[in-house]
Amino acid sequence: MLPALHCPAVHTADALAREVSQWRADGYTIGFVPTMGALHEGHISLVLKAMEVSDRVVVSIFVNPAQFAPHEDLATYPRTLEADSALLAAAGCHLLYAPAVEEIYPEGFATSLHVDGPALGLESEARPHFFGGVATVVARLFGQVRPDIAVFGEKDYQQLLVVRRMAADLALPVKVLGVETRREADGLAMSSRNVYLSPAERMRAGRLNVILRDLAHALEDGEPAAAALEHARILANSVFDAVDYIEVRDAGTLADTGPGLLNRPARVLAAVRVGKTRLIDNVAASPARRG
Ligand code: PAJ
Repeated sequence: MLPALHCPAVHTADALAREVSQWRADGYTIGFVPTMGALHEGHISLVLKAMEVSDRVVVSIFVNPAQFAPHEDLATYPRTLEADSALLAAAGCHLLYAPAVEEIYPEGFATSLHVDGPALGLESEARPHFFGGVATVVARLFGQVRPDIAVFGEKDYQQLLVVRRMAADLALPVKVLGVETRREADGLAMSSRNVYLSPAERMRAGRLNVILRDLAHALEDGEPAAAALEHARILANSVFDAVDYIEVRDAGTLADTGPGLLNRPARVLAAVRVGKTRLIDNVAASPARRG
């Protein structure tokens, strides 16, 4: 049999609820992967993980206005629903939920979430409303899909921790799983926004992961964080048009780990600009490698 060209889709919360209720009645567990579409292998690796750990998988595609600032790329964010649906069908996804804005933010919608803790600093410096918008939409999608397990990418490491915190704080009955970052051959993290890069910018973009990996290795080899960070920041400033941040943080809480030797599992996180495109990436740094 030829594989289906399209993943079965619903566009309203009511239609979604009908499908999901039937699955629940049949005793299936439900996995969920929220996305904004323009799907690539990174997204598909989350879908495959969800398929591994649950009986039925829902993927949502919704470009969430609440997480874009007025000057950001909401209007031009890539929208490729046909191709996305084909990729999801090939991955074996059971249901695509692609709601209109009114389905997520109906008239009278008046609740938004605010998360502190892991949401403080890093991405929030340049995008102060971002995690409020993410937490609000993800909580609402969790309410509509009612998944047992939801899968997020480590690519957006701070987002993963924010969603985990939000789900725990609101006592939502969902397990939040993280999946490691899928990369291009030169190490560039796959991202829907990479299509914005010109060929020359694309070459420079590949340097980000190399700088972060070298920084993580320096920390693991016992270089104090302050010196290793200074070196990485000088290098990054020479390659990129701007460096929003390069930081070393506690892997579980994103708390500062201090200027000295690494003494706990950490994450090295960065955001830089190449031309008009903002890239983020992060890698693990473990004190265990030292010695
Ligand atoms: P989006 O950028 O479409 O990403 C959807 C999911 O795919 C996120 O969990 C993200 O971390 C993951 N992802 C993106 N690139 C990846 C890569 N290279 N490897 C592995 N996973 C990757 O993140 C969002 O959408 C939105 O903020 C959302 C959570 C859907 C809320 O609107």
